[in-house]
Amino acid sequence: MKAIKKAVFPVAGMGTRFLPATKANPKEMLPVVDKPLIQYAAEEAVAAGIDTLIFVTGRNKRSIEDHFDTAYEMERELEAKGKEKMLEVLRSILPKHVNCVFIRQSQALGLGHAVLCAKPVVNNEPFAVILADDLINFSEQPCLSQMVDVFNYQHCSVLGTEVVPKEDVSSYGIVDGTEVKPGLMEVNAIVEKPDVKDAPSNNAVVGRYILTPRVFDLLETTERGAGGEIQLTDAIAALLSEQRVLSYNFDGRRFDCGSKLGYLKAQVEFALEHEEVGADFREYLLELAARNGSKVVPIAKNA
Ligand code: G1P
Repeated sequence: MKAIKKAVFPVAGMGTRFLPATKANPKEMLPVVDKPLIQYAAEEAVAAGIDTLIFVTGRNKRSIEDHFDTAYEMERELEAKGKEKMLEVLRSILPKHVNCVFIRQSQALGLGHAVLCAKPVVNNEPFAVILADDLINFSEQPCLSQMVDVFNYQHCSVLGTEVVPKEDVSSYGIVDGTEVKPGLMEVNAIVEKPDVKDAPSNNAVVGRYILTPRVFDLLETTERGAGGEIQLTDAIAALLSEQRVLSYNFDGRRFDCGSKLGYLKAQVEFALEHEEVGADFREYLLELAARNGSKVVPIAKNA
């Protein structure tokens, strides 16, 4: 099987949960400390060996294209002022060998439909899907790299999963399966946003997928499912009857940046680990906790 070289980023969603911040700005451009969510996602893909980033965009998403394009005027200005460090930040957003492709999803028909929009670029290769609002921190290896390792060994589709509290299952695609080894399961059922009482487990798919191209054919005939949308989960359910699909409980900490609370948690934890502001931010949190008489304070990773 071919190596994973392409990643699809469905970024056409409206981001209504973050209004008014997302009225004119895409939710994927919300920053965590100093980088937009979509850049973390792109960096994770590049770290996994991917060289083609396929963004499935919609209205109001121009700033995503601009973010990954060269900013000539800004570069010239920084050059003139001798601001080398900032210039380097601008120029290193993506390595030179990485290409970006932008495809417009003109109808909001759901995640499955968004992935299908990437078919003409992905063609007949296995590929990754990254949902940028699931931001995943790691200590040793980024989530998608871990999944690519699993794919390279097992040669089949791999879904990034995490055990979630039972009461949250109705927000996710939920898998059931047979354990291959700790953390790795052969999936035998997957269902999109089930009721708690119908959920086969509480092992949830988070926004990381490695899929074989057969899923495109299945998406073409997938009917509207949960929420009236064409669901990627339903096409994966169809794939199960033809091919082996694994679920992989990755090593890392996921933040649901599609929710305000998850986004705030990400801000705090990424800020604590940030080279430039981490130490001062930690001091600030300690001081804040002391002011409030609480002893519960976060500890910085590098402290
Ligand atoms: C999507 C998928 C769902 C998955 C989730 C992960 O749902 O449809 O299966 O569990 O992402 O974040 P959404 O959050 O877009 O409603």
